[in-house]
Amino acid sequence: MSDKIPNNVDLSSNRKLQKALERWLPNYLDWWREMGPEGFQEDWIYLRTAVSVDTDGWAHFDYVKMPDYRWGIFLTPPEKERTIAFGDEIGKRVWDEVPGEVRKELRRLIVVQADTEPASVEQQRLLGKTCPSLYDLRNLFQVNVEEGRHLWAMVYLLMQYFGRDGREEAEDLLVRRSGHQDSPRMLEAFNKPIQDWLSFFCFTTFTDRDGKFQLGALAESAFDPLARSTRFMLTEEAHHMFVGETGVGRVIQRTVELMKTAPEGDVTKVGGIPLDMIQRYMNEWLTASMDLFGSEDSSNSATFFAAGLKGRWEESKPGRYEDHKCLEGEYTLEVPRDEGGFAERRIPLRRAMNLVLRDSYVEDCDRVFARWNRILEKAGMSERFYRASDRFNRNQGVYAGMPFDPWGKLLSREEWEAKKSEWLPTEADREYLRRIMTPVTEPGVYANWIAPPKKGINGKPIDFAYVKFARDEN
Ligand SMILES: [Fe+2]
Ligand SMILES: [Fe+2]
Repeated sequence: MSDKIPNNVDLSSNRKLQKALERWLPNYLDWWREMGPEGFQEDWIYLRTAVSVDTDGWAHFDYVKMPDYRWGIFLTPPEKERTIAFGDEIGKRVWDEVPGEVRKELRRLIVVQADTEPASVEQQRLLGKTCPSLYDLRNLFQVNVEEGRHLWAMVYLLMQYFGRDGREEAEDLLVRRSGHQDSPRMLEAFNKPIQDWLSFFCFTTFTDRDGKFQLGALAESAFDPLARSTRFMLTEEAHHMFVGETGVGRVIQRTVELMKTAPEGDVTKVGGIPLDMIQRYMNEWLTASMDLFGSEDSSNSATFFAAGLKGRWEESKPGRYEDHKCLEGEYTLEVPRDEGGFAERRIPLRRAMNLVLRDSYVEDCDRVFARWNRILEKAGMSERFYRASDRFNRNQGVYAGMPFDPWGKLLSREEWEAKKSEWLPTEADREYLRRIMTPVTEPGVYANWIAPPKKGINGKPIDFAYVKFARDEN
C-alpha cells in the first residue's frame, strides 16, 4: 500500500493511517471513475506526478492512465524552530498536534478547503469532449488529477489528526456532489457548472487563484502539518493558474487575429469569440470567486486570526506587515444604507481579515488583467478589459443582490435588467460557445477560436501527442 502512494510522511511505518487510507482508497477510485473526466479513463495522458518535495525534482512526467495516477501525500519539510507568526500566540512554537481548544475550527477550515478539490473535478468532468487540442486536454487532466491529490492532502490531515471524526469527514467528501440538489458542495462557486472552455480558463484564472490565497493563508497556520501541506499544494496551484491565464490569453490573441480579417470585424462570422463575450465570462468568474472570501465583517475570521489558524497572504514574509497582532486598526468599508446612499462602516481589523486577504487577491487579479490588456495593446487595439468592481454581481456580503454596474455605480432594478446582458454571459453566449467548441484531437492542431501556446509542456513541442487514445492502440 505505502509504495503505491508516493509520500514523505513515513506511511510505511504508520499502520493506523495505512488502514484508514486502505479503506478510503476504493471509495475514492469509485468516485474518480464516476465523477472524474468522462470518456478518457482508459487513455494515456502525459502527466506529471509529484514524487518528492525537492525543488529540482518533485515532478516526474510520463504517460499514465488517470485511474492509475499515483496520488501522493507530500508536505514541505519542517522548518526548524518555526514559531507562530501572528495572533495571540505569536512567537510560541508551532503545533505538531491539534490543540483541543481549536479542534472544531481547524477541522472546519480543512473540510471546507478539501471540499473544493473534488468539486472542481466534478464541475469539469465533461470538458474533455470538446477540447480545443491535445495540449489543452492534457492540461485539463493535469489540473483534475492534482485537485484529486489536493483532496488526498486534506484527507491525510483529517485521518492523521482528527481520529474518527476525520475519517467520517473523509467519507463525506466523496458523497457530496457539485450542483447536487440535496447534497451539494459547500461553496457556491463550486456548484456552478463549467460547460465550456472559456469558463474553464476563467475558472482556473479566478477560482483557482482564490485557492492560491486561501492556501497561502493556511500556509501561515500555527498547525504545522496544515502549513506544510498547503505549501506544497501551492506549487501545483501555480500550474492551474498558468493554464487559466494563458488559456484566456490565447483566446484573446486568436480573437484579435480574426478581427483583422472578419467581415466588419465581427469574429462570430468566422467562429471566433468576441472581446465583449470574453469580458462577460471574466466578470462571471471573478465575481463568483470574490464571494468565496466570505463576509467583509466576520467574527470567524477574527477567531481564526487570533488563534493562529489562518493568517494573511505572506504573513511571515519579512517586511510585508509590521503588526502581526492586529488588535488595533480598522478597515473602512462603504456600505449601502436602506434609505439610499452609503455609510462608512469601520470594521476592527481582525474581523476584516477576509477583506484583507481579498485585497491581496484583487491586486493579483489586476496584474493578470494588465497582462491580458498587453495582448490588445500589442495588436494595436484600443479596447481594454476591465476588472469589475467588488460591488458588481455579488451573492455574498454587504453588496449581495444589489444592482451595481461593473464600475460600482448603483442602478435601478429596471436599468440592471436592461443592461445585465452586456455584463454577464447570456444564454445566447453559451449557445454560441457550444456551437464553436467541437473537439480537436489531432496532435499539433488547435481549434479555430484559440491560438496555439507559445511552448509545450516539459520542453515538448506544441505538436506533441500529449494524449494517446486507447481506441488507436490496435
Ligand atoms: Fe486544489
Ligand atoms: Fe487548483
